[in-house]
Amino acid sequence: MERLSTGSLAEDRPDTVKQTQINVALIGYAFMGKAHSNAYRQVGRFFEPRLTPRMKVICGRTPANVQAAAREYGWDEAATDWQEVVTRPDIDLVDVCTPGDSHMEIAIAAAKAGKAVFCEKPLGNTVREAERMLAAVEKAGVVHMICHNYRRIPAVMLAKGLIESGRIGTIRHFRGTYLQDWITDPAFPLVWRLDRTQSGSGALGDLVAHVVDLARYLVGEIVEVCGHLETFVKERPLPGHPEQRGTVTVDDASMALVRFESGAIGSVEATRMAPGRKNWNRFEINGTTGSIAFDLERMNELEVYLEGDDPAVRGFHRVLATEPEHPFIKSWWPPGHIIGYEHTFVHTVYDLLEAIADRRMPSPNFHDGLRNQLVLAAIETASAERRWVQV
Ligand SMILES: NC(=O)c1ccc[n+]([C@@H]2O[C@H](COP(=O)([O-])OP(=O)(O)OC[C@H]3O[C@@H](n4cnc5c(N)ncnc54)[C@H](O)[C@@H]3O)[C@@H](O)[C@H]2O)c1
Repeated sequence: MERLSTGSLAEDRPDTVKQTQINVALIGYAFMGKAHSNAYRQVGRFFEPRLTPRMKVICGRTPANVQAAAREYGWDEAATDWQEVVTRPDIDLVDVCTPGDSHMEIAIAAAKAGKAVFCEKPLGNTVREAERMLAAVEKAGVVHMICHNYRRIPAVMLAKGLIESGRIGTIRHFRGTYLQDWITDPAFPLVWRLDRTQSGSGALGDLVAHVVDLARYLVGEIVEVCGHLETFVKERPLPGHPEQRGTVTVDDASMALVRFESGAIGSVEATRMAPGRKNWNRFEINGTTGSIAFDLERMNELEVYLEGDDPAVRGFHRVLATEPEHPFIKSWWPPGHIIGYEHTFVHTVYDLLEAIADRRMPSPNFHDGLRNQLVLAAIETASAERRWVQV
């Protein structure tokens, strides 16, 4: 099989794609490493991407663990030195699934080596890092994408379609909440997600980043914010050393009021301390002629209310977004045979592969990653300075 030699968008490349295979290197083998691995494995079985991903090498820091991951997920090779991996001439696409403190270094090295770069969110740990990452991929002229997989849920795309067709009129409100409960117990250890040097922030970068992405995707740019960040449990046991305690350096919960460029207003909120809420990524959007609401825990459904409906039966109704007309669905199962979390990554990887085949920039990309990071930074500033902040 011929393979793609570079992720470059350079103009001197031929318009038609002759290559049929793209060699992938994935850095990080845990939660997202597994989700992305599954996406590369499944995408060609349900879709027909013009480029077939070859799962060439997966990389981590602990040899035995990364070797086990390679075997389990189906990668050709395991490696422990990402610097060596991202410059290998036989690699076309580098997929970054590590914590935020290594995104910038890996993405910039991959871009410099001419590889397409797919990076987990948030893009970097700071605005400065995100700016440097965007500058690097632009300078190298490579394809880049950030993994905001929730954009590719069929019900969310249906919401986008209803908004764009004007069915709910002019949007006035966006209300987004992302609630989890896994750090409610004060005895839960100080893992990397609770250490600012590794994660950049807490619920803000982990969860509000997704809400902000959905808000930007569905409603438009956020131009001003007023926010509050809170850390309820300030010290926690160290992982593997429960007798020692360390300081929590990120927010447990964060919330903000936001103003959109369009004139709409909204709220974004996330916490990892809402007992019973496991992955409650929910939004409601109200327009002048209708409303829509979505909840990730019921991700095949969209609640829709349209003023134009017959008044006798008008009300919120549940649309099961599993018809062949709904995005991505006809490649999976017959109507009503629902899809799940892992499918969102398959859809994202499919669109990434198609964009590389077309030599166009996929969406969301590092521009979106930077814009998102600017909103998160503005929320932090607003919280610290107790005022509204322009993005
Ligand atoms: N898109 C989503 O819905 C979603 C969901 C969860 C996490 N994420 C993002 O994915 C990224 C990873 O999160 P996760 O949940 O998979 O974390 P994780 O802790 O489950 O996995 C992190 C992996 O990175 C590896 N790693 C850490 N530092 C490394 C380094 N310097 N070099 C090589 N490997 C290194 C670890 O060994 C581990 O395999 C984060 O940016 C996170 O915000 C996105």
